[in-house]
Amino acid sequence: MIETWRPVLLPGQAKPPSFREQYDSTAALDRLRATEYTYLDRTQHVYLDYAGAGLPAMAQLRVHADRLRGGCFGDPPADGLASQASRDLIDRARDTVLAFLGADPDEYAVVFTPNATGACRLVGEAYAFGPGSRLLLTADNHNSVNGIREYARRAGARVRYIPLRPREMRVHDADVLRALRRGERADPLRWVRAAGLMAAGPRGLFAYPAQSNFTGVQHPLEWIGQAHEHGYDVLLDASAYVPTNTLDLGTVKPDFVAVSWHKVFGYPSGAGCLIARHEALGRLRRPWFAGGSVQAASVRSGWAVLTGDETAFEDGTPNFLAIPDVEAGISWISEIGMDVIHRRVTCLTALLLDKLRSLRHADDRPLVRLHGPLSTRMRGGIVAFNILDPYGDVVDERLVGRDAAAAAISVRTGWCCNPGAGEAAFGLDRTRIAAAIRQGPISAEEYLGLLGPPATGAVRVSLGLMSTIRDVERFVEFLDTTYANRLPDLTGLEPRLRC
Ligand SMILES: Cc1ncc(COP(=O)(O)O)c(C=O)c1O
Repeated sequence: MIETWRPVLLPGQAKPPSFREQYDSTAALDRLRATEYTYLDRTQHVYLDYAGAGLPAMAQLRVHADRLRGGCFGDPPADGLASQASRDLIDRARDTVLAFLGADPDEYAVVFTPNATGACRLVGEAYAFGPGSRLLLTADNHNSVNGIREYARRAGARVRYIPLRPREMRVHDADVLRALRRGERADPLRWVRAAGLMAAGPRGLFAYPAQSNFTGVQHPLEWIGQAHEHGYDVLLDASAYVPTNTLDLGTVKPDFVAVSWHKVFGYPSGAGCLIARHEALGRLRRPWFAGGSVQAASVRSGWAVLTGDETAFEDGTPNFLAIPDVEAGISWISEIGMDVIHRRVTCLTALLLDKLRSLRHADDRPLVRLHGPLSTRMRGGIVAFNILDPYGDVVDERLVGRDAAAAAISVRTGWCCNPGAGEAAFGLDRTRIAAAIRQGPISAEEYLGLLGPPATGAVRVSLGLMSTIRDVERFVEFLDTTYANRLPDLTGLEPRLRC
């Protein structure tokens, strides 16, 4: 019996399936693991870092090799037959991305970027921040979104964070609404905006992740419509969400969406997207131009005009040998079915949470302290926690990372580029953080040292399409045999490079 089990009801199913029934309904994934992801079992690797990168199937690599063997592809911005062949494939990939996300081509455009970070940067550097405008962020955000605040501040905009609440590490709806309403009465263009006269321009940008890359919390997509009602544009960071959930841009309409494709299907890396509403994209003002994004430029007059479509946001030569593989990756995932992947990951998340909670030292003290929700309600397959020693003290996460690697297990450790979640998980308040950073420029290791206990890094496990019950069991067995009733040996740990 799995306590945290919340079944996903399938169409036409009268009674909720048992854990086993639901897991067995995803058996096709095991067959694929045996044929298409053979490197996992051949190397006995327990891969639990899908939030870092997904895994490629052999079929995707074959498609890539066949394409390169079968044609001649040139620099896309140039004229000529080979360049046209590249452009055609990139345009097909754009159409495939739109279809995958249920986005209407008349409403949304696809800009290829190196990764989700590149997508966030495009928005940050070109958004119309200025005195009187705002950037609203949830405290739960990846640094690639947090970094937008530097552009906003430089332009004189107000930057506000909406806090994480303890225990489940969620953001309360009421806090979001309060933040969206703040300053609304004083806004002289309030009525113009309410009447939908967008010439008034939005009040600012609200940026949040559909799923936390630290706790796996899924934040409500309903916030998008609410933010629009209060005059905000929305940047939805879907990087941790789309690998195991369906995002339907026919239903929810964020202005900007950031995605990294290697997180969804492993290969290619170096390909991400900014999916943006045409209207919102048209309001961005690029701070520069480059080869690829410019139609014409004059040196003598200092004039330049950007291309008139999404390529105005694609600087230089795009990754034209890899971008077509995004089409292959999406086709692969679509053939498997996102519903199957979602069901499997939900099953395994419930199993993992249950097993972690049941781990104990001999005197019944818990071996694991979980950060974030304890059930699968409104959460994805990312689970962050710390190991506790027999005295209840946190075991240094670097040790867990090192021991896991020695046992052929891949996990992530640290704050996972999500400082707001790290601060909330370890109960660090502003005074303490301010005292630490007053010491001047310091390294990640010194920073955590100055913050002092309980500030440390977490261990993050993330599940994906090739995860199995056996992976979860092997990981939990590893934790039990390595840490139950034992004091850790911390000798030889390398300093943290980042937190
Ligand atoms: C939620 C989230 N946003 C953004 C990013 C940045 O992605 P990338 O490093 O591929 O640009 C990540 C990466 O882990 C992430 O998990």
